[in-house]
Amino acid sequence: MCGIFGVTKDKNAPQTILSGLKRLEYRGYDSWGIVVKGKSRLNLEKHTGKISGSKTVLDQSDFGIGHTRWATHGGVTDANAHPHLDCTGHLAVVHNGIIDNWQELQKKIKGHKLKSQTDSEIAAHLIEKELTKKNDLFTAFTKVFSQIHGYNALIAIHQDFPYLVAGKTGSPLVIGIKKGNNLIASDVSSLLPITQDVVFLEDGQLAKVSADKVEIYSTKTNKKIPLKISHISWSAKEADKGKFPHFMLKEIREQPKIISEIKKSKTYEVDHLAKQIKTADSTFVVACGTAAYAALSGQYFFSRIAKHQINPAIGSEFFYHSDFLGPKSLCIALSQSGETIDTLQSVQHAKHKKAKVVSLVNVPGSSLSRLSDQTILLDAGPEKAVASTKAFLAKVTLLLLTAYTLSGERQKAISDLSKAEKAIKDLFASEYTKRLKKLVNAIYKKEDLFVLGRGQSYPSALEIALKIKEVSYIHAEGLPAGELKHGPIALIEKGTPCIILDPGDETSSDVLSSAMEVKARGSYVIGISIKDNPVFDSWLPIKKAGEATVFPMIVVGQLLAYYLALARGFDPDMPRNLAKSVTVK
Ligand code: F6R
Repeated sequence: MCGIFGVTKDKNAPQTILSGLKRLEYRGYDSWGIVVKGKSRLNLEKHTGKISGSKTVLDQSDFGIGHTRWATHGGVTDANAHPHLDCTGHLAVVHNGIIDNWQELQKKIKGHKLKSQTDSEIAAHLIEKELTKKNDLFTAFTKVFSQIHGYNALIAIHQDFPYLVAGKTGSPLVIGIKKGNNLIASDVSSLLPITQDVVFLEDGQLAKVSADKVEIYSTKTNKKIPLKISHISWSAKEADKGKFPHFMLKEIREQPKIISEIKKSKTYEVDHLAKQIKTADSTFVVACGTAAYAALSGQYFFSRIAKHQINPAIGSEFFYHSDFLGPKSLCIALSQSGETIDTLQSVQHAKHKKAKVVSLVNVPGSSLSRLSDQTILLDAGPEKAVASTKAFLAKVTLLLLTAYTLSGERQKAISDLSKAEKAIKDLFASEYTKRLKKLVNAIYKKEDLFVLGRGQSYPSALEIALKIKEVSYIHAEGLPAGELKHGPIALIEKGTPCIILDPGDETSSDVLSSAMEVKARGSYVIGISIKDNPVFDSWLPIKKAGEATVFPMIVVGQLLAYYLALARGFDPDMPRNLAKSVTVK
């Protein structure tokens, strides 16, 4: 939800900011803009549309900030693109979040000329108003930031001050520590080509960042806070597409390696988590979107493997049914970014109720990891495609491993996961790609599609449908196969594609009956299964991997979504209307 990138002394600031924003584009791609220090005033450039492939026309400068936008307040126009200038053209802000009380604040800047419909621009004029002979930029910013309500990350730059000021409540901000050119950005991976040393700004903190100095202050006490520098082990190469045409394909292909790493390296953390689940009165697994489907998969694994009840919960709904939380509850939060506001708020609520919080999170140092009592890093490397693939599989790998650990059968987990790794690798063979493309050719013009699963493959059906709808814009619905006859079957017409998930377990005969039912109504039936069946018009085979048979099944769904997006002429990495990190409610 909007990406921010700023430099304090870079000999080619416009270009460095442009490159930084390109690495942040997954956070929003409605419009972008850069402002740099000029000879007598700030120089500004703003455009609607994606930043990838764009060039900057700004003159050389060594100091500036930029922004890539996911629109909230105000449509997608050049005027609404950030940065926003004040009336003098000497001050500019970039913003990620929503200023909840913008209407009230707007009344304070009567007479100022606003050029956009955004809440963000108001902040520029408020700071302008506070800037006096007595108040420098930092003081003026501090006064304004304390009046702003909501979840926000705000940065200001001024032609006459040699530093950037940043404030944060909710939305993420990271300071890149680089001698002679300290930086500010929305995430760590955008900083990696320049520095791996970072300071995470916490909620309620302000930062004053110049080329040689970084100072952090508390908004509550106004006191200086000692710098806590973290070293990030991710490399810039990992955040690169490499030889792949898209991040989505690269990330899908990384999955066997990720499973293998988790299997080898997470024994200690998983043991600890299993013990906590065992002793907790109740366990809630809270997450959003794809991560919530991973939580649902976890419920099946724990029930079937460990005979243990866990409760999956959707982040945005958790608050409404969490009255049972107490000091003996365990809340496990799943998140790729660790910045999803609905997940963060659920965790804050759980903490408020004194529950223990463990997070399974991919981005090191993210807000969620800093908020949790224990963090298990997914170690999946930077995930750049907006649609989550490898982080999903990393989460379910950890949940499967934990369920087996709880049942005292860790070796079985290792064996199932090894089989899954091999089964997934088979899907990358060129013959398999041909098979997928042939199917895509048969269905890519359809506008509706259904994915049916039962038992453990029900969460997989939801996840496959989500991937297909996100990147190909085909209306795809995942359903528990048994629910079909209770309503959705009314939607089946001649030629409607139905994907049947059959992992060859106890759900087989029932899910195949559903296949017969849709076939009888003219559906084009696609099986993702370990065995072919006469009911299938098209068959995508997978190999059995014990309780992890759903893993290769999901990867087939991810690949299908990817090739459907390409066939329909869409960019799978940056689907319309979406942003990777959802930091607004
Ligand atoms: C779908 C997708 C989203 C995210 C969701 C939660 O492909 O990526 O549904 O899973 O926004 O994000 P994280 O995992 O970062 O909390």
